[in-house]
Amino acid sequence: MEAKECILQRRSCRRFTDRPVDRDVVREIVELARFAPSWKNKQIVRYTVVDDKAVKDDIARNCVRDFPFNTKTISRCAALAAVSYVTGRSGRDDQGALQSPDAEKWEMFDAGIAAQTFCLAAREYEVGTCIIGVIDEEGIARRLGLPEEEKVACLIAMGYPEEWKSAPPRLTAEELLRFC
Ligand SMILES: Cc1cc2nc3c(=O)[nH]c(=O)nc-3n(C[C@H](O)[C@H](O)[C@H](O)COP(=O)(O)O)c2cc1C
Repeated sequence: MEAKECILQRRSCRRFTDRPVDRDVVREIVELARFAPSWKNKQIVRYTVVDDKAVKDDIARNCVRDFPFNTKTISRCAALAAVSYVTGRSGRDDQGALQSPDAEKWEMFDAGIAAQTFCLAAREYEVGTCIIGVIDEEGIARRLGLPEEEKVACLIAMGYPEEWKSAPPRLTAEELLRFC
């Protein structure tokens, strides 16, 4: 798939068929996502993919801040990726000294780029995704037994979409762009 096509056709999907996402497909997606840029190439982002229905349903019920919309999406998806990042590295030098006064911003920045790269890579394999931000980050980290030094940035619901919808309205390039 050409980059242009992939960018235009990636869509947030919230309804999926029953088809599971094979673990080898998830591996292929991460094979691409690992090329996402990161602060000084620190590569702090990790993906914990849940394809166990009981664990996924538990997160759907208990880790979305009582937002039923997200409960439904997670219950319907075939697999759920928790995007986390190792704290204390981005925005710092190799000795851990701050290089940027707002290092925490760069951690989340790295995670955001990684999440979008993951979603674009998934699109290449016809896997639909939805980034989910209304979540209980600490509850998810506990439920998944993530290492102490990792924080959860977002979830990504994954599955084969019932349909590929068209894009919701976007601002025009003219509205977004200015030259000085
Ligand atoms: C940081 C972030 C958080 C989001 N959180 C949620 C969420 O909690 N639930 C949800 O259904 N969609 C969520 N979305 C998906 C957006 O609603 C979606 O990207 C937007 O409506 C544009 O649609 P598109 O992705 O199909 O282009 C989130 C997207 C981003 C980037």
